[in-house]
Amino acid sequence: MIEVGKTYLVMGLLDPDSIAYAIGRTIQRLGGKVIYTIQNEVLKRRFLDSRKTMTDAEKAGLDYRFCDVSKTDEIQALFAALPPLAGVVHSVAFANPKTCMGQEFHTDAFEDIQKSYRISCLSFAEIAKYAVPRMPDGGALVALSFDTQHVYPLYNWMGVHKAALEALTRALARRHGRDLVRVNVVSAGPLVTTAASKIPDFEHIGKIWMQTSPLPWDPVKDKQAVAETVAFLLSPMARMITGHVLPVDGGAAIMGGPLMDFEKPANA
Ligand SMILES: NC(=O)c1ccc[n+]([C@@H]2O[C@H](COP(=O)([O-])OP(=O)(O)OC[C@H]3O[C@@H](n4cnc5c(N)ncnc54)[C@H](O)[C@@H]3O)[C@@H](O)[C@H]2O)c1
Repeated sequence: MIEVGKTYLVMGLLDPDSIAYAIGRTIQRLGGKVIYTIQNEVLKRRFLDSRKTMTDAEKAGLDYRFCDVSKTDEIQALFAALPPLAGVVHSVAFANPKTCMGQEFHTDAFEDIQKSYRISCLSFAEIAKYAVPRMPDGGALVALSFDTQHVYPLYNWMGVHKAALEALTRALARRHGRDLVRVNVVSAGPLVTTAASKIPDFEHIGKIWMQTSPLPWDPVKDKQAVAETVAFLLSPMARMITGHVLPVDGGAAIMGGPLMDFEKPANA
């Protein structure tokens, strides 16, 4: 699985509910070393430090750097100071919920859309640019997406940016094959995290999953299934996979409509 003793950068730790934290712990359990990035000191104090679900020993054991991915100088400084890497995970997204999400798709808040695009999509390209030179033996980049085959209510511009992120992944896979660096995306079903709680009426998307996913989807427990798939894509077991979107969503994205009663698991 994960290359034992090698170092993986996991970007996007906010609190213990973050998908980034589940990914980091999975990599460590499989023998890898993990360095996280946190957006800034203020968010660290407000979210990570204040959460009671992590012990002081766990917090003290975290290796982390600060990096705001909308700032090129911070990305450059981050990678210049890192040891050789075997993989990088982009678990970062942002959209102003008042202007880029909600009941009305149309908006004049073009600066907000540009900011969301830069953080949620373009930053993956900038990170690849500076990460690949830190991967002398090749490696893997993995980002996180959400079903772009269908249009969901309220998700609006983040859906557009996730589709761009998936197209960017294919472009990066083509560009970095010559560096022996693979680039893939995991498309996760809805999971309970702080970012998800900012999506207006996020529970509605959760209900869609309950009605359509052939496998029963658990928005808390299945974070681990997402983390393990990311670890697989980082590992040499996925050495000939690049440029792909791998759904970890219980199968919901393939469905042509909700499950009928006879299709539902007996305990649903
Ligand atoms: N939670 C879900 O249902 C779900 C489903 C599919 C995909 N995803 C994706 O998973 C990824 C991680 O999100 P999460 O759900 O764990 O939420 P989260 O809130 O724990 O993580 C989002 C992270 O993005 C970071 N971020 C935002 N702006 C940034 C900036 N300018 N610079 C650096 N970091 C910045 C935040 O600080 C935070 O750490 C995101 O790409 C998200 O779209 C989430």
